[in-house]
Formats: sequence, structure tokens, C-alpha cells
Amino acid sequence: MKILVVDDEPAQRELVSGFLARHGFEVLSAGDGREALERFRAEPVDLILTDQKMPGFSGLQLLEAARAVTPEIAVIVMTAYGTIEHAVAAIKAGASDYLTKPLNLDELLHRIGQVRDRQRLVGENRELRAALQERHRVEGVIGESGRMQEALSLVRRVAASDATVLIRGESGTGKELIAKAIHYASRRAEGPLVRINCAALPEGLLESELFGHEKGAFTGAHAMRRGRFELAHGGSLFLDEIGDLPPHLQVKLLRVLQEREIERVGSSHPIQVDVRLLAATHCDLEALLKEGRFRDDLYYRLNVVTISVPPLRERREDIPLLLDHFLSRFARENGKTIRGLTREARETLLRYDYPGNVRELENVVERAVVLTRDEVIGLADLPLAVREPEPDTGEAAGLPAAVEGLERRMIREALARADGIQTRAAELLGISERVLRYKLRKYGLSGG
Ligand SMILES: Nc1ncnc2c1ncn2[C@@H]1O[C@H](COP(=O)(O)OP(=O)(O)OP(=O)(O)O)[C@@H](O)[C@H]1O
Ligand SMILES: [Mg+2]
Repeated sequence: MKILVVDDEPAQRELVSGFLARHGFEVLSAGDGREALERFRAEPVDLILTDQKMPGFSGLQLLEAARAVTPEIAVIVMTAYGTIEHAVAAIKAGASDYLTKPLNLDELLHRIGQVRDRQRLVGENRELRAALQERHRVEGVIGESGRMQEALSLVRRVAASDATVLIRGESGTGKELIAKAIHYASRRAEGPLVRINCAALPEGLLESELFGHEKGAFTGAHAMRRGRFELAHGGSLFLDEIGDLPPHLQVKLLRVLQEREIERVGSSHPIQVDVRLLAATHCDLEALLKEGRFRDDLYYRLNVVTISVPPLRERREDIPLLLDHFLSRFARENGKTIRGLTREARETLLRYDYPGNVRELENVVERAVVLTRDEVIGLADLPLAVREPEPDTGEAAGLPAAVEGLERRMIREALARADGIQTRAAELLGISERVLRYKLRKYGLSGG
């Protein structure tokens, strides 16, 4: 067990440190609150044992700052005899325990033992809870919110069947992840999961990608090629962006769904396929129906089971879970030790609106993990757009506000491109460094 001992009186500090070291603890020490916080940021400990009254940075302030870094850190506060109100304040602020000075060293050992037992229990509980969650989890999909749990319960129920599933939701909400979850929870899990994006390919190519073609079916078709439907035989086909499927392919897809067979382009020989169809779209399909851009017969075929993935702003309680999930994933992938976020950074991330949904949160966290020079991610590691979302600078806000908005944006972009070097940013903007500095002050942007 590693203990950080904080006291501004050297004799007292050495007495306690020496005593604990002799009892087999690993001991770090600091002479004031600020130094203690530095040490704690640099090196995690199991317990902070701190004096309450120290010049400058009190034990209570240290407690608060340490909890911002590691919310579950155990802290024992030492208060002077007769200052019970300090002890009460410490416990209220989240201290694990308090001791009065002069210290009774046996009592100290006893209290440390209690902290250790409690930590062990908390650790075991956490493991139990994790094991329990594991059993109710759909592979890889994070979400404890009611709306997400509803979606996941549908995933589990529908996975067992061969029903066509239509997955709907805004961009970046996790539609593809849900499609994968369904496939791997289904009896087709051993079979292939083949994906095709209907919006990414030109019409002609899309057709032969889907259904394949015979040799000589069109110029450039030098050899026979199997389409994705054939490749997905025995598994699932994920048709992404189904709202962008061109009309004549909608007809062909409908036929496949009815007949369970395909014809390669340039052939009239039907081929049986055993494929489960999963489709996704961010489009308002009902609007497309009205405009005649999506066939209603296909719509009803696809719409057997619909899973709606809610946007992140409608399930904000999932943000902390996703945040921690991405933090540990990117820390691992980048070989970095990340011990958490500063309180400001965490609050900013919890407050932000995420128009790009989970993908945006994922990107923000990855960027921060890559950028940070610290083991703790701070406000400076977050993109400006997240730190201060764009104020309304539309026409309605008036010309001055719009000009200001444009200036802010251009200055930020220039600074980003110039790696924060003001001389270079001023050059990029075509203004003098003096004017740039003035504008940075004016817009409060200089904080980096
Ligand atoms: N609930 C979640 N748990 C963990 N990761 C998630 C979750 N939802 C989304 N992600 C991650 O966010 C990213 C975007 O998800 P995905 O590609 O599935 O979204 P999408 O809805 O298909 O987006 P688009 O409409 O833009 O194609 C992926 O990297 C995915 O792993
Ligand atoms: Mg997608």
C-alpha cells in the first residue's frame, strides 16, 4: 500500500513517514498541499494522509483537488486537537477518516487498516458488478440509459430470428455497431457479415457489387464476379444507407427479399441465397416515401423490425460511460497511462451537445489522449469547438456579431495551423502580431 504523507512541519512529517515505512508501507511525502498535488498527479497512491492546517493550500483544498483527479481516492485528514469543526468539514468534503493531533500512532495504523479493508471491498464489489453487467451486455455496445437498454433488448430478441431489421438513427449513433451485435448474437455468427454502403458507390457499380456479374456482362467485365449477396450466403448482409438505394435497385432488392434468390448482372440464371438482411439509414424514410423516392412495398418489407438508436443528447447519462470506455481504449491503443480528467475537462465533456453523436465523442477523446503530455487530460487537450460551442452568429444576430464570429473562427484556425505560434498565425491571417494579440485579448482566446 502506497501512502502520501503531507505535513508542513518537517519533524512531524518525518516521524509519521518513518513510522509507516517501518511498518512496511511505501511512503511518499510532501511539505505542502501544492507539492502534494503535484506528486499525486505524477504518481498514484492508495491513501493520502494530510495535515489540515497548512499555509497556502490547506488539507481540505488538497482533498478536493485530489478527488477531482481520482474521485475514489482515500484521504485521512489530521486536525489539531480541539478543532472538531475542521474534522466535520473534512468528512463532509469526502475524507475517508480523520485523526486528531498529537497522533496516536497505533490508532493511525488501525485507521489505515480500515481504509485498506474498505478499498478491498469496493474493489470486489466493482468486479462483481462488472461480471453481472457482462452477462446482460450486448457485445461491444455501451449504454445503460433506458432508451439504449430498450434498443439492446430488441437486439437480443431479434437476433435469434431471421427477420429483416431496419436500424435507424442519426449519423454516428452506432447503427453499424448494432448491426454487428445482431449478427454476432445470431445463429449466423459463424457465417460471414458482409457490408455494403449504398451511398458510396455509383449506381452501375453498386448493382454488380450487390448481385455480381457474368464475364462479358458489360465492358470491363473480364471475368465472372460474385456479388455481396452471394458472399454473404449463410451469414448476414448489412445494407448501409439504404435510403440512398437508386429506384431500379430498390425493385431488384425487393425481388430478392421475396424470392430469396438473385441473378448476376448479364445472367438470367437464378441463384439461391440464404442471407439475413440488416439495413440502416439516417434518412427520414417516410419523407422519401412521400416524395416517391423510396418504394413503399420495399419499405414495408424492410420495416419488419425497426430499431431506433437514440442520439446521444437524448441519453446524456450514457456520456460518462462512453467517456471512460474510450479513455481506457485509446490509452491502451496509444500505450499511454491516463489517470483521468481534470474536473473542468470532465464537466465540459459532460455538458457538450455532440451533434456528431458517439463518433464525435470518440474522436474528441482519441485526440485528447494523443495530445496530452500529462497523465491527466485537461481543458487544453479538448478542441475549441467543445470548450466553447459557437455562439449564434447567424444573420439574425446582426452584422457585428457575425463579423466577430468569423474573426474568432479564423483566428482559431490560424492558431491551430500555426501550432499556436502567434507570429506564424498572424502571418497566415495577414495581420500584424500586435493586432493579433489585441484580438486574442478581446475575444479571450489567448488561454490556449
Ligand atoms: N454504444 C456504443 N458503445 C461503444 N461504442 C460506440 C457506441 N455507439 C457508437 N460507438 C462507436 O462510435 C463510432 C460510430 O458508430 P457507427 O459507425 O456504428 O455509427 P453509425 O450510426 O453507423 O454512423 P453513420 O450513420 O455515420 O454511418 C464507432 O467507432 C462505434 O464503435
Ligand atoms: Mg454507419
